[in-house]
This record gives sequence, structure tokens and C-alpha cells, in this order.
Amino acid sequence: MNKSDVINLILKDRKNTPKTHSTAKFAPSNIALIKYWGKRDNILNLPMTDSLSLSLGNKGATTSIEIIDKENDEFYLNNEIQNADSPFSLRLSAYLDLFRFKEEHYRVRTQLNIPLAAGLASSACGFAALVLALNDLYAWELSLSELSILARLGSGSACRSLYKGFAWWQKGIHANGMDSYAIPLETEWPELRIGLLIVDGSKKLIDSRSAMERTVKTSQLYAMWAHQVAHDFIVLNEAILDKDFVRLGEVSEHNALSMHATMISAWPPIVYSNADTVNAMHAIWELRKQGLELYFTQDAGPNLKLLFLEKDSAVVKEHFPGVEIID
Ligand code: DP6
Repeated sequence: MNKSDVINLILKDRKNTPKTHSTAKFAPSNIALIKYWGKRDNILNLPMTDSLSLSLGNKGATTSIEIIDKENDEFYLNNEIQNADSPFSLRLSAYLDLFRFKEEHYRVRTQLNIPLAAGLASSACGFAALVLALNDLYAWELSLSELSILARLGSGSACRSLYKGFAWWQKGIHANGMDSYAIPLETEWPELRIGLLIVDGSKKLIDSRSAMERTVKTSQLYAMWAHQVAHDFIVLNEAILDKDFVRLGEVSEHNALSMHATMISAWPPIVYSNADTVNAMHAIWELRKQGLELYFTQDAGPNLKLLFLEKDSAVVKEHFPGVEIID
């Protein structure tokens, strides 16, 4: 089964005449508290395990799309035109190939209001916003689960970027992935805060797609990952229902470090942390010893995302002046 087969299953006999000439949509970025790491299908981005994320509210991507009367697509990122052979353009263009019903070409503008630094899930909100914009452009009127599946075909974590608050990506069991999409959790937790701690804004050493593949293939620890996720899921769900921040912090930090442990044990090893990352971890652990309820999570890059409650925002800012707190 390939991506086009899935798209045919979703769009069925919808007419693909554009309803409008251009449209723009916003999707928030998301940070996984229980990570997606490893695929059971590399083409459809079907994950080995469930994952659970928190959205970054109004931080994310606004993507506009319009049909243009040209021979090629045009891509802009933060108002800058991108070279046709850049990884950004190639990835978007390959995704749009799945939807070119009358060989039309598009101008796509992606505007991010989050730092374009390593590991801040800009592809997740970018693909989610693009899918919402395509849905509007062609007036498909798809359900959120169908839109989530389309976003997943662009980037796995994008399927969680359609919602505010917590999103649960159910891995599904079917080979076509029609049961692998994200749904929102009902619980709202407005006091929860995420702080972006950029220790290094340069490009990732290895992209998450290749890093996942290498981990699944070569890490002996990967066999334990599914067990860890199953356990963490139960704990995190309880913590969310009880609004127990310490449990949420502990299980999220433990989950992120366990994911990184599977990568460090891959071969060749994958180490996203640098010295500043590890120093920041020690600083967090020291502050915790002193009674501050501060935890972190880390994705496929050296930067940390701090987890804390609103009441501690000022103290966190005092200790990490460079932190960008998402309200
Ligand atoms: C560490 O969604 O970027 O951020 O499906 O290959 O596009 P692809 O991978 P991607 O991986 C995200 C990995 C992660 C964990 C997470 O967000 O759950």
C-alpha cells in the first residue's frame, strides 16, 4: 500500500475542483510527552507505539496555498523563497504530487511563529496547516481523523498537530493505517507551561526519519521501548486526569530519556545531546532537589523543552533567562 492508495481511500469520489483560488490555515506545533520513535511502515509513517502530545497553543505554522498558472511550484518559508532543490521544497513538492488532480501547481507560503531551530517540530505544524489548507481549497470537508491521516503521510508527528491541548496518536493495527490517527483528549490544563530552551540552533546531525530507522534496526534496547511506552501511557493518563503535575513531569522526562537511550545504543550511535544539553539537565535536577517542580523533555535535537506550572514561570525565567515560555 502506498500513499496514493490511502489518499484514494480518503477522498473517494470527491470532486477535486478548487472551491477557492487561495486559502490559509493555522496549525499549532506539538511536543510529545510520550514519544513516537520507530515505524512499522516507513512509507505511511505508521508508528510502532502510541504517542501523546501537548500542543503549543498559538505557536505553530500558518500555511497559505494558491493554485498558480506556472510550470513549477513556489515555496516560501518565513517570506523567503526556497530553492526548488532544497530539502524543504523537495519534501513539500513530493507531498503535493499526491494531490495534483489536474497537474496544477501551487504557491505555498509557510509562516512560523516558533524558532526554526533544531527539534522544534516545525514540519509537524507545517504539514498539519497544509492539510487544513488543502481541505479548504478543494472543499473536501473531511473529518478530523481523516485530516490527521493525511497529515501523517507528510510527517508522523503532524497527525497530532490538528488539536489544541493533549492529542493521543493511536498507532492502529491495520496495514493501510486507516486506524492510525490522533484524537484530542478532553482534559484541559491551562496552568501547564512549556519553555523552549535552545542550547543550539544549528541543523540536526541526523534527521529523525533516518535516526528512527537506524534505532529500530540496530539497537538491542529498542525491544524494550514498546513496554516502556505502554507503562508510561497508563501513568501519564492518570496524571492528566488527576492533574498531578509531578507525575506528569516524571513520566515525560523518563520517557524522553528512555527514547534517547535507545538511540545511544544504536550503531553507529545517535547522540543528539551536546555538553550544553547535559549541563542544562544537571541544572534542572539540582533545582528539583531544591524543591522546584521543573522537568524536561527532549526530541531529535540538542534543545530541551522545560515542563512546569504557571506559578513557577518567574523562577524558571530567573534560572534560564533565555527560555521562551509558551503561554
Ligand atoms: C522525537 O514526526 O519528525 O519528535 O514521521 O519521519 O516525519 P517522520 O518523523 P517526525 O518524528 C518526531 C520524533 C520526535 C518524537 C515525537 O514527536 O513524538
